[in-house]
Amino acid sequence: MATIRTVVFPVAGRGTRFLPVTKASPKEMLPIVDKPLIQYAAEEALAAGAEKLVFITGSAKRAIEDHFDTNQELEAELEAQGKHDLLDAIRGIVPSYASCIYIRQPAPLGLGHAVLCSRPVVGNEPFYIHLADDLIDGDEPCLKQMSRVFEAYGASVLGVETVDRSQTDKYGIVAADRIDDRVSRVQRIVEKPKPADAPSNLAVVGRYLLTPAIYDKLATIGRGAGGEIQLTDGIAALMGDEAVYAYAFEGRRFDCGSKLGYLEATVEFGLKHENLGDQFTDYLARLVATRLRG
Ligand code: UTP
Repeated sequence: MATIRTVVFPVAGRGTRFLPVTKASPKEMLPIVDKPLIQYAAEEALAAGAEKLVFITGSAKRAIEDHFDTNQELEAELEAQGKHDLLDAIRGIVPSYASCIYIRQPAPLGLGHAVLCSRPVVGNEPFYIHLADDLIDGDEPCLKQMSRVFEAYGASVLGVETVDRSQTDKYGIVAADRIDDRVSRVQRIVEKPKPADAPSNLAVVGRYLLTPAIYDKLATIGRGAGGEIQLTDGIAALMGDEAVYAYAFEGRRFDCGSKLGYLEATVEFGLKHENLGDQFTDYLARLVATRLRG
């Protein structure tokens, strides 16, 4: 299998939809039951073979670095108290063979700009981009599925899913020629088109596997929609030189950048949590029964 060694986590956005919680804390540290979104992200990338975890950070994001660091004081306390389960939960979140690299995006100039900031450490290799607020729950990690598509086609791959037509103005939307049930070749990509202008309802979600040729494009496209350097524009430019594929991943996506998606993920992960699942299921069943009665 083609091993993609590097993942970029752009985490420098302001997370305004979650204010006030994101005033001083990163959106990516929002917990789904007992793990922050960024830990689910790191686990998915590690499971897909990544060894170099590159975080593009900004102001109020220090907690992310602390989360992946060793906390010796806390470890010593848990050890002394014999709390070995908790010790295991905080140790080795990132295995020793992997490294975390933090790069500061000087100003939030857009997702494309955040990705461009990773160039000095990614080098001339294909790499993953993972947006932690899109949490994907599936049997096989989404990035791993995408690495198989990369292996088959040797070109960039975008994770996509069909969305309701009314939602196209929230996503990059692709027009693509179907190859099989899950893979298609992208013909066009447009950032946040109005439903009436959208070329389809196939939306790019927060998973990308890109060739390093994207960097030259991001460096030269200039500012697009909203005055930001848009990753979508970079991909559109890349398509002038290289094929780009869309992959409809297996798994369910939760848009944890929105409050409703976040609540849905919390409930679904709570229901199947190994320690809490049964109790939480009972609680919800009772709650729903009470609501229906009254
Ligand atoms: P979003 O569009 O979700 O923006 O960014 P946001 O700031 O995170 O959240 P809202 O919309 O204000 O609530 C998509 C991804 O791009 C990253 C974000 O961290 C998020 O993962 N991003 C965005 C950057 O890293 N830098 C930027 O300049 C913009």
